[in-house]
Amino acid sequence: MNNSDPSKEPGCTIVIFGASGDLTARKLIPAFYHLCKDKLMPPEFRIIGFARREKTDDSWRQELRAALDQFSRTKPVDEKIWTAFAKNIFYCQGDLTDAAAYQKLEQLLTSFGSGPLRENLLFYLATQPSQFGEVIEQVHRAGLLNKNGSGWQRLVVEKPFGHDLASARALNAELTRFAHEQQVCRIDHYLGKETVQNILMFRFSNSIFEKLWNRNSVDHVQITVGEKIGVGDRGGYYEEAGALRDMVQNHMLQVLALCAMEPPVSLEAEAIRDEKVKLLKSIRPLTPDNVAKQIVRGQYFAGSVDGQPRPGYRQEPKVKPDSNVETYVALKLFIDNWRWSGVPFYLRTGKNLPMSASDVRVQFRPTPSVLFATHCGNKLDANAITLRLQPNEGIYLRFNGKVPGMSLGVRPVRMNFSYDAEFGAYTPEAYERLLLEAIHGDATLFIRRDEVETAWQIVDSIRAGWDGKSLTNREFYAAGTWGPIAADDLLAQSGHVWHEPQVFS
Ligand code: BG6
Repeated sequence: MNNSDPSKEPGCTIVIFGASGDLTARKLIPAFYHLCKDKLMPPEFRIIGFARREKTDDSWRQELRAALDQFSRTKPVDEKIWTAFAKNIFYCQGDLTDAAAYQKLEQLLTSFGSGPLRENLLFYLATQPSQFGEVIEQVHRAGLLNKNGSGWQRLVVEKPFGHDLASARALNAELTRFAHEQQVCRIDHYLGKETVQNILMFRFSNSIFEKLWNRNSVDHVQITVGEKIGVGDRGGYYEEAGALRDMVQNHMLQVLALCAMEPPVSLEAEAIRDEKVKLLKSIRPLTPDNVAKQIVRGQYFAGSVDGQPRPGYRQEPKVKPDSNVETYVALKLFIDNWRWSGVPFYLRTGKNLPMSASDVRVQFRPTPSVLFATHCGNKLDANAITLRLQPNEGIYLRFNGKVPGMSLGVRPVRMNFSYDAEFGAYTPEAYERLLLEAIHGDATLFIRRDEVETAWQIVDSIRAGWDGKSLTNREFYAAGTWGPIAADDLLAQSGHVWHEPQVFS
């Protein structure tokens, strides 16, 4: 990951295709604004929004300024910083399929001079994936994107990276037609989260924990990504995606890979990505038979979250009234390598759960309770370490301690590390870090082609197991609950239970 001095970075121009969409105003511009505020942008840069609607530089700046009031993570917006930042923002009106629009873009870039602002180009494709191929070809034809040109050019894309292995391969082929794989930054915003990055630091900079991080000590691992929000107005997208494609193919498998991978030979991007791919490839293949035993899907019906009524998924806009799409998924995966042989990894994610909280709980093997059997029965609480990814970012260790007093009572207690308490409330948005790394050309936080494709292989095998099968009664859950009964059954088979994410104040 990059530690270079931003003031020494050469300049660059960021071109956002599909700039009038939500992402630009909500995430990208607030992120660039904060990078300026924190003096992390190169001293010279430009941002060009490319979209179809008629706008001038000024009207676009005004629009973005208004949006910043709403979406900035720090408030109020600092006018001095905004004014200096806004001077670097430009608008280029054009249709993505029109070669003349790319000529106009080329002229605008050339008007910035012949140096880094013209040659170092970050193309952010905030368009439909079906338009990536067209944009890339047009940009290349306009002489702006080359495999071996002067300066650097990079493409930034976000999920979905296809909807199955075949479409992901086709997309990857398009992305690399006029750019090397190293020029492609595939964003998974989970990798930009401080706590997700900390998984590697925590594991590999602490000998006391890493020694325990294997089948000899670990009983099982639970990864939960819970969301209180329902599908809401994203029904059209969700009907195509479902929780498996939306959350598991990317965010959850990335978190799993970081938690379980072997130490990389260095912190170089390729070394880390090699280990993640190795880990994903070690996941035991899922035959349709295994899918039935190891994977549970769920769909919410009407209920309430925080006392507010929520409609069922089938009643959400743009959702088929008899839809079988999953809004929840729970997986029991095995990693067939030396370190993890036989240890179940449980993953679950869902919409309309009681809590928006994500964590990784590593539960250690049971402690023999012979000594304390008379005082606390045969059930000494197993030790566990929980990495709280969000909110209340931190780590907590659960172990047993003596209850003060004359008796020999033992009960679980906890040791808690909180990011906020230790470091103060510094929470840059994932996009700030990701955009900065894309400008610096550090690929560590981006997903490599083979990672995407390996993750799709896993997801495709699950979908094949579900093919043609409708949801059963045990796979529905009321909005506001922790998922379907079938997910509890999944853990009960091995004598385990789900642990709800802990919230600390
Ligand atoms: C997105 C999914 O990738 O991640 C959304 O498309 C989901 O469905 C979101 O809500 C969750 O991200 P976060 O950062 O809020 O945990």
